[in-house]
Amino acid sequence: MQKTLDPTRTGREAGQLDHNLHKRIVGQAEAIEQVVNIYQTYLAGMNGPGRPVGNFLFLGPTGSGKTRMVEATAESLLGDARAVIKIDCAEFQHSHEIAKLIGSPPGYLGHRETHPLLSQEVLNQFHTEKVKLSFVLFDEIEKASDALWNLLLGILDKATLTLGDNRRVDFSRSMIFMTSNLGAAEMSALLNPNMGFSRSFAAPSEVLGDKLNSKIASAGLGAARKKFTPEFMNRLDKVVVFRSLGEAELRRILDLELAMVQRRLFTNSHGTPFLFKLTSSAKDFLLREGTDMKYGARHLKRSIERSLVYPMSNLIVTEQVRGGDLIRVDYDPELSRMNFVREAEGMPAYSMVEAAGVEVAALSNADAAGALMEQPRSTGARSTRK
Ligand SMILES: Nc1ncnc2c1ncn2[C@@H]1O[C@H](COP(=O)(O)OP(=O)(O)OP(=O)(O)O)[C@@H](O)[C@H]1O
Ligand SMILES: [Mg+2]
Repeated sequence: MQKTLDPTRTGREAGQLDHNLHKRIVGQAEAIEQVVNIYQTYLAGMNGPGRPVGNFLFLGPTGSGKTRMVEATAESLLGDARAVIKIDCAEFQHSHEIAKLIGSPPGYLGHRETHPLLSQEVLNQFHTEKVKLSFVLFDEIEKASDALWNLLLGILDKATLTLGDNRRVDFSRSMIFMTSNLGAAEMSALLNPNMGFSRSFAAPSEVLGDKLNSKIASAGLGAARKKFTPEFMNRLDKVVVFRSLGEAELRRILDLELAMVQRRLFTNSHGTPFLFKLTSSAKDFLLREGTDMKYGARHLKRSIERSLVYPMSNLIVTEQVRGGDLIRVDYDPELSRMNFVREAEGMPAYSMVEAAGVEVAALSNADAAGALMEQPRSTGARSTRK
């Protein structure tokens, strides 16, 4: 009996990761695909023995989702975006700083007091019943000192790190992510030769065309090859070049970020869960303010904090908004500022959940939906307002 098999199909768990990443990450399909592929290999028990589960190098401009990608993977698999062990390579330039990472040898002053940042306990701390994987992120590796670089090579190749006191740390259940902005300038020059807010800037990466996309990717790769030794490059499983984000992508990120602000409002320690909705002119304003070629979505996040989160915080502490309110946020072009108007009050919990749920479902952010569903208890009482 012969049957043609389909090796492109993913299993349920990898499919779930794929789905979750697509919900959280905008416009970096290749990065998602590579992480899912490696996860699938791990699930099948087929990743190389004595090596980390995967070694990734993420290149590309600032604010394009490199760090977010790692956090979203941890969020999806371990249930917490903060379950990432982050090493900022710029912080470990000198030998005494390396000791912070691996601890100092016994006998050295302060040996007992040092807790290495990269011990086995640290690696394993976020494991769950179901998933025994660690996510380790080395940020800005181009700034790593030689000493750190050697440690890194050992981790990538043999999945081990020897601590100051000779204990060994095993990285064979870790995914290693490294990020660098190398080549970002060359890449954005290709993307947007005029460096203005021209229409080419607004083009989302999906419509850039294969040719330009691969040119951009090879500019990134070329810069990495020039800077990093072959022995390093050969230890990588995947090099992914993140794309600059276009206007359409920033618009989708805006919706994701707004859902996160709504979630913060539902879980704030002040205990005033209320709903807000933005008119399209308010969204356009945030996008205009937050669109910046250089800083990607970072600038957008700042614009949201400045024009939405700060003013809403003032409204909360001065008790101008209370639990159960529905606040409409609109942009007033004449006064060039956001207006906040209470449209309804004393909304019972379930209708807030429902109202937000619709939005959240549209944004397909399961966690935000979850946070809202947990919230309703306290709000019912507040509907008896004068
Ligand atoms: N592709 C994306 N999809 C969804 N959110 C994004 C994306 N890119 C950026 N963001 C948002 O912008 C924030 C900053 O992005 P991130 O920290 O991932 O940038 P980065 O690429 O790591 O930049 P840097 O090189 O400066 O470290 C993220 O926390 C996230 O909220
Ligand atoms: Mg980053």
